[in-house]
Amino acid sequence: MKGVRFLATGSGLPAKVLTNADLCKIVDTSDEWITERTGIKERRIAGPGEATSDLSARAARIALDRAGLRADQLDAIVVATCTPDHLFPSTACLVQKALGVPHTIAFDVSAACSGFVYGLAVVNGLIATGAAKTVLLIGADTLSRFTDWTDRGTCVLFGDGAGALIMTATDGPSDLLSVALSADGGKGDILKIPGGGSRHPLAKPEEAVSFPPVIKMEGKEVFKHAVTRMIEASLSALERAGRTPGDLTLLIPHQANLRIIDAVAKRVNIPDERVFRNVSKFGNMSAATTIVALDQALSEGRVKSGDLVELIAFGAGLTWGAAVLRWS
Ligand code: ACO
Repeated sequence: MKGVRFLATGSGLPAKVLTNADLCKIVDTSDEWITERTGIKERRIAGPGEATSDLSARAARIALDRAGLRADQLDAIVVATCTPDHLFPSTACLVQKALGVPHTIAFDVSAACSGFVYGLAVVNGLIATGAAKTVLLIGADTLSRFTDWTDRGTCVLFGDGAGALIMTATDGPSDLLSVALSADGGKGDILKIPGGGSRHPLAKPEEAVSFPPVIKMEGKEVFKHAVTRMIEASLSALERAGRTPGDLTLLIPHQANLRIIDAVAKRVNIPDERVFRNVSKFGNMSAATTIVALDQALSEGRVKSGDLVELIAFGAGLTWGAAVLRWS
């Protein structure tokens, strides 16, 4: 079985910045409330005509450039997203087209905010079995397109973005040390987009009124589950890797809410300076959060060759997971 070697990362972020002050003009909220309850100060919002595949392709080009690879050297493109451009073709196929690659494996992974960590397990399988040698994995979402901009309980939380990671097969030890994943579909109703799928299709306008294609969330419930499950996932992935929190150079938790990040870091028992936080600048970018954070941490020199990093994710489904990796 082949192991995984990490080559390079990249980010694709929209130019438009939406600040808390901007939100105060749209809904009844305040910078104080948003900062105190979430830690978010601003987020990026996709521009007109900019969709998930555009942000994804931007992140991919940067990662390819840094890896010193041409797009035609990729064997597979996997996009973790819950906000695809279309129900089909998949976002991965659109990225393949944008990169000008004629033939690769291409498909999307749907696990909401946990998608990138789920995607790591999928790519690990492609590489281990020899189905693909060099793989582009993207975490990307444009939740702003599925946000109710009159609901102050959700619209302050989300931002748009994409992050890319290129991996290749190695005969040496794998740099992906462990992945721990789980889900609880029984609690799916606490965080969902009721309309727009095959149950309540948008093609029937009367359905869209009762079942709008926007995020509905029981915030307090989601908060509780996020903290519990992220701690569980983190400890489980560390145990599978035969490591302890003390071995980590950096913990990268899903960036949904500063209070969730702080609660997880405290329970995992890892000092503040080894916990990555960028939620204040980007909000919750769903599947893009952990990979954009890793890309930023690498650019800032907070992760270097040989360092151990853990990514932790939690999202709709409910889904959750964590991965321990050694940066190559
Ligand atoms: N501005 C001002 N007041 C607000 C706002 C706002 N933006 N939003 C809610 N309020 C009010 C409420 O109306 C309520 O007022 P009331 O007491 O008069 O009824 C009060 O603030 C408290 O509201 P709560 O919902 O109880 O506030 P809470 O402390 O739970 O914070 C929040 C809400 C920030 C959403 C929190 O529950 C949370 O972060 N939950 C987790 C969300 C999350 O992580 N989601 C994504 C994870 S999964 C994924 O990534 C897709």
